[in-house]
Amino acid sequence: TQSPVNVTVTGAAGQIGYALLFRIASGHLLGPDTPVKLRLLEIPQAVKAAEGTAMELDDCAFPLLAGIDIFDDAKQAFDGANVGLLVGARPRTKGMERGDLLEANGGIFKPQGEAINAGAADDIKILVVGNPANTNALIAQAHAPDVPAERFTAMTRLDHNRAISQLAAKLGVPVTEIKKLTIWGNHSATQYPDLFHAEVGGRNAAEAVGDQAWLENDFIPTVAKRGAAIIEARGASSAASAANAAIDHVHTWVNGTAEGDWTSMGIPSDGSYGVPEGIISSFPVTTKDGAYEIVQGLEIDDFSRARIDATVAELVEERDAVKGLGLI
Ligand code: NAI
Repeated sequence: TQSPVNVTVTGAAGQIGYALLFRIASGHLLGPDTPVKLRLLEIPQAVKAAEGTAMELDDCAFPLLAGIDIFDDAKQAFDGANVGLLVGARPRTKGMERGDLLEANGGIFKPQGEAINAGAADDIKILVVGNPANTNALIAQAHAPDVPAERFTAMTRLDHNRAISQLAAKLGVPVTEIKKLTIWGNHSATQYPDLFHAEVGGRNAAEAVGDQAWLENDFIPTVAKRGAAIIEARGASSAASAANAAIDHVHTWVNGTAEGDWTSMGIPSDGSYGVPEGIISSFPVTTKDGAYEIVQGLEIDDFSRARIDATVAELVEERDAVKGLGLI
């Protein structure tokens, strides 16, 4: 068997952490042949809760779980990390200005970026889940100059999966029939879930739907506001589905997309599709051998162009704001 892969998870005692750790330990993140060592990072007040979760992980006797260490220090937690799942973040509280939110998250993602730079393994792959995910990823990346920029990614896979599920329900087909769905832009209400390049059973999805009003007034807002709908219904934000999406994101990155399909990942833009270079924006990507590539050559019509431009404009604003705060 392989030697264990070190997986660092921040915010390990939170609700996503609780849904995530058991799936990592049971082999769903990296596959059934890869043992994992968990390195959990929490704030000091939550270390005890993380220890409780670790006790439960022990009690599962997972064959692939080669060890659990718990830290309240980012440098230690990222030492030797091969995969980093950055889940812990500062949520927006009532009345909080955007600047305050970004600043508070800068206080988390700057030291974590430095810690990754200082001690992570050469093959480190980072997924930022904690919101605002795209911009938090940008902050961490800015403080890890020795790590290749493309290793910093942000999660839009939950939006991607939500969009697949909504489309499959609309058309009455299994989710496995849906391919080439794309989430463009920011993991926020401005995101653009794109059906014009998606396929349903080999057919163009927008044509199969044949209902522009549904697409504009139903599908896009339902996907974009699903997080709020979950909070409204559950009384807490999405956790198991977010954890599942994090598993999917890393699993796809490591193991590759299927032939004839792609996925959505928030990644540093190389300027493709007019998205300013450097911002971390969601794109259609294929993955292979642990690397990803933006799907090229898609024709973008006026409707999609306007939607992409709007979500990208928000990302540029966020970047400028964190730049203004000296966080990048
Ligand atoms: P939670 O509040 O239950 O847990 C967050 C945990 O992070 C807490 O245990 C807290 O102690 C910890 N934490 C805070 N600062 C930390 C630091 N500096 N280092 C290590 N740990 C730290 O929140 P939940 O529900 O688990 O969500 C986590 C984040 O994921 C939130 O920012 C949420 O908005 C985001 N999210 C992102 C989604 C996406 O699609 N990208 C989907 C759903 C949630």
